[in-house]
Amino acid sequence: MEEKKIVIFISGRGSNMEAILQNVEKAILKDICEVPLVLSNKIDAPGIKKAKKYGVRAVVIPSHKKKRSRFEAEVIRELEKIDFDFIVLAGFMKILSKHFTEKYERRIINIHPADTKQYQGPAGYEWAYENNLSQTYITVHYVDEGVDTGDIIAQKKIDLSGLGSLEDIKKRGLTHEHRFYSKVIAELITGKKFE
Ligand code: GRF
Repeated sequence: MEEKKIVIFISGRGSNMEAILQNVEKAILKDICEVPLVLSNKIDAPGIKKAKKYGVRAVVIPSHKKKRSRFEAEVIRELEKIDFDFIVLAGFMKILSKHFTEKYERRIINIHPADTKQYQGPAGYEWAYENNLSQTYITVHYVDEGVDTGDIIAQKKIDLSGLGSLEDIKKRGLTHEHRFYSKVIAELITGKKFE
């Protein structure tokens, strides 16, 4: 099978991006996909350095104090320089417009730290903690112009029982995210089931 090309968009830490890059290098995503580009909308995102460590080209297109239409036009110009199949959002904190999401319809995916049907927004683990949930979900979904409203591709249940602090919840959730995102990407690309 021909490898698919995924571009990863980040805004911060980039731990999901790093997990994907590790899996492309030597695990579940090896020979399934390659990453021609990491794009950050934040100049100081720690994920940029991490991408470079893996030899991946990382480009910064700042969105701060810029009209969204201008930011997206710059992103599109960058994307048009390369060939790619999917855009993988990994902690990318900018809402993309209808124009952008329709241009790449069903080619943009995101990982969300909650059940998108129950909670939308960036604080999924805080929401689980504040509501004393004994379990939560992480969700991989297609991206449309809404905030975490796109069609769900896959979800994973996370057991939170016995976890006393928000830090513990985040740690457990993220560990699952790191495995789950790559598994779902592998399934999306190959059409096969992975463990
Ligand atoms: C993750 O919890 C992800 O689900 C959410 O933002 C966080 C990003 O973390 N969309 P990282 O930048 O991948 O470390």
